Amino acid sequence: MEIVIAGDAQQAARTVAERIAAVARSSPHPVLGVATGSSPQGAYRELAAQVGAGLLDLSRASAFALDEYVGLPADHEQSYTATIRRTVTEPLHLDPARVHVPDGRAADLVAACERYERMIRDAGGVDVQVLGIGENGHIGFNEPSSGLGSRTRVTTLTESTRRANARFFDDLDEVPAHAVTQGLGTIGEARQVVLVALGARKAEAVAGMVDGPVSARCPASVLQLHPRCTVVLDEDAASRLADVDHHRQVQR
Ligand code: GLP
Repeated sequence: MEIVIAGDAQQAARTVAERIAAVARSSPHPVLGVATGSSPQGAYRELAAQVGAGLLDLSRASAFALDEYVGLPADHEQSYTATIRRTVTEPLHLDPARVHVPDGRAADLVAACERYERMIRDAGGVDVQVLGIGENGHIGFNEPSSGLGSRTRVTTLTESTRRANARFFDDLDEVPAHAVTQGLGTIGEARQVVLVALGARKAEAVAGMVDGPVSARCPASVLQLHPRCTVVLDEDAASRLADVDHHRQVQR
């Protein structure tokens, strides 16, 4: 794992955006893996600024979102379909026809999950996957105990994740109990992964991911096996790493 400790959230955002832009510039039809959550928003804003200034063209890029709640109407403002449209597709001037989000409302969710896996494969796989991390170490909606080789499927959210996400809803009862998520095996097939974590609330999950054993207890720890994974942190998120000095030295 490459560990980048950024001075602040803005520097972290710039680092993540640079990695995505580099991939986008190196391919005529880049395939981006995009995440919701607050952590990658700064990077999306950086990319939007580059697109707006004519320095980056993402109109030929495809994008695949990680996950979606089960049962929320697509036009619900907290559905990941609406969130990706608002925070990624529109500001980055992506072609909406090439932006895909798992279908959390399909009558046959199992078939919809298999279809999503096929769509990613048919697009040639994900070139660069952007990730955040949950406080319990989840990536996408792969909660602790998710199979390390799991594929796109329906998962049950933990109460702690529902509580963490309740800030986006009027009431905890409105947070769906289930989600469709790319599996850990699916995410691991992206050619490059860039995970961003900010703030002290993420410090323990980050330490588990980087220093802990590879274990379903901390789903993000599976990224230790990835050949090209960059973890971008601010000082607080890095504060519980076993050897921060070493990471700084490598960075220098
Ligand atoms: C959600 C999403 C994850 C995201 C996580 C952290 O549960 N499914 O993809 O990484 O929250 O969100 P935040 O970046 O807002 O802390």
